[in-house]
Amino acid sequence: MTFQAVYTSEEKIKEIRNQFPILKEKINGKPLIYFDNAATTQKPQTVIDAIVNYYSHQNANIHRGVHTLSQKATDAYEYARKKVATFINAPKSEQIIFTRGTTESINLVAFSYARAFLNEGDEIIISALEHHSNIVPWQMVCEEKNLQLKVIPINDKGELLMDAYESLLSNKTKIVAVNHISNALGTINPIKTIISKAHAFGAVVLIDGAQSVSHLKIDVQTLNCDFFAFSGHKMFASTGVGVLYGKEELLNKMPPFMGGGDMIKTVTFEKTEYNELPHKFEAGTPHIEAGITIANAIEYIESVGFEFIMEHEQHLLQYATQKISEIERIKIIGTAAHKASVLSFIVQEIHPYDIGVLLDKMGIAVRTGHHCTQPIMDRFCIPGTVRASFAFYNTLEEIDIFIESLKKAIAMLK
Ligand code: ALA
Repeated sequence: MTFQAVYTSEEKIKEIRNQFPILKEKINGKPLIYFDNAATTQKPQTVIDAIVNYYSHQNANIHRGVHTLSQKATDAYEYARKKVATFINAPKSEQIIFTRGTTESINLVAFSYARAFLNEGDEIIISALEHHSNIVPWQMVCEEKNLQLKVIPINDKGELLMDAYESLLSNKTKIVAVNHISNALGTINPIKTIISKAHAFGAVVLIDGAQSVSHLKIDVQTLNCDFFAFSGHKMFASTGVGVLYGKEELLNKMPPFMGGGDMIKTVTFEKTEYNELPHKFEAGTPHIEAGITIANAIEYIESVGFEFIMEHEQHLLQYATQKISEIERIKIIGTAAHKASVLSFIVQEIHPYDIGVLLDKMGIAVRTGHHCTQPIMDRFCIPGTVRASFAFYNTLEEIDIFIESLKKAIAMLK
């Protein structure tokens, strides 16, 4: 499906919404308003069809069989890898490692790269905006190898303090791992600057792109990041698949993360010879149909177009921010100058969970709690937030209903 320039934005959104069957669901008797896109996105028909097609016409194990089905499945899986490479402008598709998701991609770098190449006293820098998945793997490897973990602080708006970052950098810094967009606050981090400053000290940089890859155009070569991690399910593909992009020379020198089938060339009891990239990091049968759906998801995103996505999502964010600011007792958490379409807030004297439950009764899906970012909640001295996160299929009308429902919920909880 290709959208014509003549479409008005409204027609385009209507057409987009028609491609997502779940958006026609009723929840508690009310039309679903899905504002939990930072947790996972809904799936367009093309992705759903790809799953059905895979099990109807392609299902077989990949990379192993000479028979036709195995070759069909392998071709579809490897086509998806090429699609990902082109999508993020990786030089070669061998640099695209399929994992189970962002979490596994980050763990792969921690337990392959950091464990093999960092030594006692070396330092890893993360930021105060990280998801637990970009904190805990580093803590684990720091404990194992006596490394130091340093944290870039944030200001009250939820922006990284770049002067503090510069003062943390030294010749001891070996890895900098930061997210592109904060899942809890929506802050868009200045990753190009972060990367170049880390490189000046010889450190490698991992970008957690889980929240950015479906909202902003990513070019790993322009960014010059060493690793870039993301998940399929947050970019309209199936759950259970993610990506680690890495620079070829780094991936080549890194030891495997897991052992098993497919990641070997030869095995004897005396010695095993590992496979080439990307297979060296892909032990065992992967989530094949999920990998395949990444190609459909990318084709879908490209048919919508990043220009439209970025403009529409910013419009949604600004509209929702303005409307919610007019409600008494609301405090927005995360007011960075550069934000993606994430609106986190608290209502004074009301627990976020209670708001979430009442909104659900009105058909509105938001996430409540700490969003796997407990250190951010501690920084703002709150137990959690209510988070509305928008995708390109959301509308201004949905925001109006959300605002009215929120007012009702607050009145009920007074
Ligand atoms: N990381 C996901 C979120 O922010 C689960 O909701």
